[in-house]
Amino acid sequence: MPTPTREIHLAARPTGEPVPSDFRLVETELADPGPGQVLVRNLVMSVDPYMRGQMNDTPSYIPPWDLDRPAQGGAVGEVIAGGGPGLAVGDLVLHYAGWREHALLKEGQVQRLERVDGVSESLYLGALGMPGLTAFGGLFRTVEFRAGDTVFVSGAAGAVGGLVGQFARLRGAKRVIGSAGSADKVAFVTDELGFDTAFNYREGPVIEQLQAAVLRRPPSHKRANSDETMAPVDGFNPAMGLAAPHRHDPAMRFGRFAVDMTAVRGVDRPAGYPGLRGWIRHRAKLVGLLTNLKCQIHAPAGRSRRR
Ligand SMILES: NC(=O)c1ccc[n+]([C@@H]2O[C@H](COP(=O)([O-])OP(=O)(O)OC[C@H]3O[C@@H](n4cnc5c(N)ncnc54)[C@H](OP(=O)(O)O)[C@@H]3O)[C@@H](O)[C@H]2O)c1
Repeated sequence: MPTPTREIHLAARPTGEPVPSDFRLVETELADPGPGQVLVRNLVMSVDPYMRGQMNDTPSYIPPWDLDRPAQGGAVGEVIAGGGPGLAVGDLVLHYAGWREHALLKEGQVQRLERVDGVSESLYLGALGMPGLTAFGGLFRTVEFRAGDTVFVSGAAGAVGGLVGQFARLRGAKRVIGSAGSADKVAFVTDELGFDTAFNYREGPVIEQLQAAVLRRPPSHKRANSDETMAPVDGFNPAMGLAAPHRHDPAMRFGRFAVDMTAVRGVDRPAGYPGLRGWIRHRAKLVGLLTNLKCQIHAPAGRSRRR
């Protein structure tokens, strides 16, 4: 018997920030699973920054979403019909058909998960999923963290940044500093996540607040009032700017940066990062990082396009 369900479709490609009219709630129904298929009832779904890129019809490391089709993304659900070898009704599975209540998938498109007491389903989309892998790989592989390093994490209250700081703390960082966009988030980063210190990047020049945090002294700036200073800013340039004046600190002297352009997501023509010549002077190492979603979840067949 067909299963009535609801899906979120991409109705229009956004310009800048997405707005509700770029999406459409669609009622539909799914057929019973055929051989080799499973019907999954989604329990939790993730909305991640990388999805903003999929709303554009431009070449990228991940295929764009089609218009008038369900959006896609990581989700955890329960098999409610169908199955096969190693997969049965009631199993918990991770897959890439989020943004909808139910998904009809081939067995090979889902990954069976263990049900573990005390581990909520959403953790498989967070600390035990793609953001956790990104934080782990970014800290330990990309920037080759070593005990005794001073670590600065912008986006510290976010899914990835919050984990980076906690991993660094657990593995013996000299100091873990975070920046976030509100007083509540700053308190969360220090009080709940255990960062040594954190600051609100909207309250003053990041370079000055970061310098004060590294040197453990109050910031020298007066409260900012220009639009430029109050604008959200990624942490890379300030952190690199700080690497030079602190040549005596080995961790700062050989600055290592894992970067994502959080501040320019949704911007149609990102300005990029200025001051590239400074990388040579600072002997900085900048390494791109891409968590391979296919390690964990499988794109639905026939939905990916070669570019
Ligand atoms: N390369 C990869 O494989 C990979 C994998 C996963 C994630 N990422 C990237 O890592 C970044 C974080 O991902 P996430 O899952 O942790 O996202 P998230 O949970 O949404 O957190 C992002 C954080 O960025 C902060 N933020 C937003 N705009 C900002 C700006 N203009 N300047 C500074 N901070 C800003 C927000 O906090 P405030 O409100 O405090 O500003 C938010 O907490 C994203 O850019 C994402 O695309 C990359």
